[in-house]
Amino acid sequence: MSLHLNAEVGQIAPTVLLPGDPLRARHIAETFFTDPVQHNDVRGMLGFTGTYKGQPVSVQGTGMGMASAGIYIHELINGYGCQTLVRVGTCGSYHENVHVRDLILAQAACTDSNINNIRFGAKNYAPIADFGLLMRAYQVAQARGLRAHVGNIMSSDTFYQDDPTEYKLWASFGVLGVEMEAAQLYTLAAKFGVRALTVLTVSDHLITREETTAEERQLTFNGMIEVALDAALG
Ligand code: ADE
Repeated sequence: MSLHLNAEVGQIAPTVLLPGDPLRARHIAETFFTDPVQHNDVRGMLGFTGTYKGQPVSVQGTGMGMASAGIYIHELINGYGCQTLVRVGTCGSYHENVHVRDLILAQAACTDSNINNIRFGAKNYAPIADFGLLMRAYQVAQARGLRAHVGNIMSSDTFYQDDPTEYKLWASFGVLGVEMEAAQLYTLAAKFGVRALTVLTVSDHLITREETTAEERQLTFNGMIEVALDAALG
C-alpha cells in the first residue's frame, strides 16, 4: 500500500498504462485485458491489473495535470517497482497538418509548469521519452496504418489559457500539441531510472476548431491503446 494507492505490493504489474480519466482506466481494462482485477479505488482513481497477450499489465488513472499525475507516477515507481509507464491521453493540436484523430507520440515535452523550476532553479531540464518505446510505438502505428506524428509537445498547467493566442509561440518552435501530464512523467521516469512514453490522440484543434463525433473518438482511442500496449509489451 502507498498513500494514494491501496493495492498490495505485487498486485500492480511492471508495465502500466496511465490515462488521466479513471473511467477510461476501467474501459481499457474491460476492453483489452484478460481477467482484469481492480487494484485501486482510493479517491475513485481506479486502477486495474490483468494480462495482455499473456503478459501482466496494469492501468492506473492519474487525474488531470502534473500535480495529480506526479503523485501516482511517484508511488507506482517507488511503492510498486513499476518499470514501464505509458501515458495514454488526448491533446489539442497546434498545427494545421496535425488533425483531429491523428496520434502524437511525444518525443519530448516542454512545460509552463513551475514543478521543474522548483527542481532545477534557473536551469532548464529537457524531459524526453524512452527511445526504445518511442521507436516501437511508431513502428506499431505505421504497421496499423495510423497517422502518427513524432515530436515535441507542451505540458501545460492550465487547460483554459488567459491568452488564446499563446500557442502560436510554441507552434512556431515546432511544438505539435498540448496536454497536461507528459513533462512530469518524463522527468520522474528519468529521476528514478524507468522507461516512459506518452501516446496521444488529437481531440481538439486550436487553429481549425475541427471536431469529431464521440464514436470516432472512441475508435481512435482504442487504436491508441493497442499501439501503447504493443509498444510496451510487444
Ligand atoms: N487535452 C486535450 N485537449 C487539450 C487542450 N486543448 N489543452 C490541454 N490539454 C488538453
